Amino acid sequence: MLNINIRYNAYIKVKNMERTLVRDLNKHIGEQVAISGWISVRRDQGKLVFFDIRDSSGLVQGVVLPNSDAMLTAKEIRPEFVVTISGNVNKRPEKNVQTDKQNGDIELEIQKVDILNEADTPPFEITENTLGIDESVRLKYRYLDLRTSRLQNNIRARDKVIRFFRDYMHDNGFVEIDTPILMKGTPEGSREYAVPSRLDKGKFYVLPQSPQQFKQLCMVAGFEKYFQIARCFRDEDTRGDRQPEFTQLDYEMSFVEQEDVLQFTEKMFIELIDKLYPEKQIASKPFPRITYQEAVEKYGSDKPDLRQDKNNPNELAFAWITDFPMFEQDKDGSIAAAHHPFCSIKDEDLEKFMRGEDLLSIRANSYDLVLNGYELSSGSIRIHKADIQRRVFELLGISEEEQKLKFGHMLEAFKFGTPPHGGFAPGIDRVVMILQNEPNIREVIAFPKTGEGRDLMMGAPSELGKNHLTELGIKLS
Ligand code: AMO
Repeated sequence: MLNINIRYNAYIKVKNMERTLVRDLNKHIGEQVAISGWISVRRDQGKLVFFDIRDSSGLVQGVVLPNSDAMLTAKEIRPEFVVTISGNVNKRPEKNVQTDKQNGDIELEIQKVDILNEADTPPFEITENTLGIDESVRLKYRYLDLRTSRLQNNIRARDKVIRFFRDYMHDNGFVEIDTPILMKGTPEGSREYAVPSRLDKGKFYVLPQSPQQFKQLCMVAGFEKYFQIARCFRDEDTRGDRQPEFTQLDYEMSFVEQEDVLQFTEKMFIELIDKLYPEKQIASKPFPRITYQEAVEKYGSDKPDLRQDKNNPNELAFAWITDFPMFEQDKDGSIAAAHHPFCSIKDEDLEKFMRGEDLLSIRANSYDLVLNGYELSSGSIRIHKADIQRRVFELLGISEEEQKLKFGHMLEAFKFGTPPHGGFAPGIDRVVMILQNEPNIREVIAFPKTGEGRDLMMGAPSELGKNHLTELGIKLS
């Protein structure tokens, strides 16, 4: 505690000059300024000591001249020390100007260095790019990896993308609504994370795979246009484009048809690219539309990569895949919902559906948006009538009793005047991964988990104490 106070006071003491952000230094040529940040690189040339100093706004080179009062402290300083530095902003001589670098035309002539905090030697160099470093080390020291310019860039780009989506939704009359994290499960094909209840021993909440049921219930509630930057949880094997927890731009609209959702979404993505990634080109506008059957027949995949040049990082080949099957056969032969059981059935297939014939050929009003070989988003026009919803459950082999137990709230809600509705849910991590030209979504998530679902920095998952387990009514075998 004492130590913290001393450090804090030290900062107050050295902060006798207004702090200038590194990115603003070129507005102060010829002036004396104070900057605060981290030592990025230190080059000791004997008589001269050079530093690169980094703050959240960028990097600048500083130099300590011979005979400077700062020389003694400068010799002590190591990379990642936290400092406040005052000095003069000088224009660099013509021959030393680096036009491709931020602040490449200026240099800070350091007069005074105050060390606010020291730093151990980091386990890896905080350079521009740490992709070549063992990922388990990067994840253990994620806060250091996040100091690199590439990750700073990615996380800031993600912030911009989310801000764009949020503004776009609000500008189009959507209401942002938080839905619960502790809930009863939504069947979307993945294993759910379970949370034991302390008060209701032996009972469990599950974490949402998506806010699917709640967003539909928001339509029953009359909001008409809902959205959420929604955290979703799925206990499935992790891959490069999958994390156990991830984020969706989740939205739902009432009184719409498939065409409305597709057009709204397409316009939003085109504007996103125009505004935030003008260097990128969308291969085809409007986005091509391919039925699921065509995609599988022609490309052998329901997320075809339609780029002309797969090595061009600026080519974006969006495509719509429509008319997905409603049902699929599980490995054990049983019938399951291909997307989720709330998708409505295509008019042409309704008779077959009511008769319960040829289930695997029945198509849903469901659609995906794919981009460069990735599934970016899924959605559908939903069922809004209780009898049709019940029929889906029946065909899925869910008994009446089980329907009541698991989905009674949905079936009941549908009795009270549910409008026709539909929606969509782009995965934000995948959007940002592709737009930032990153090889996997871990590079665009501040604190991601490993392939085995571990948080190597905090050490999660971890054991619970005996008392905690007893309180939850849990006995480990
Ligand atoms: P779906 O399950 O297809 O649909 O998910 C929608 C989008 O979310 C992203 N996504 C993931 N991203 C990272 N890690 C994961 N484990 C992961 N799983 C999915 C993908 C995917 O396209 N409720 C429906 C949407 C709807 O019908 O409106 C749903 O969640 O980008």
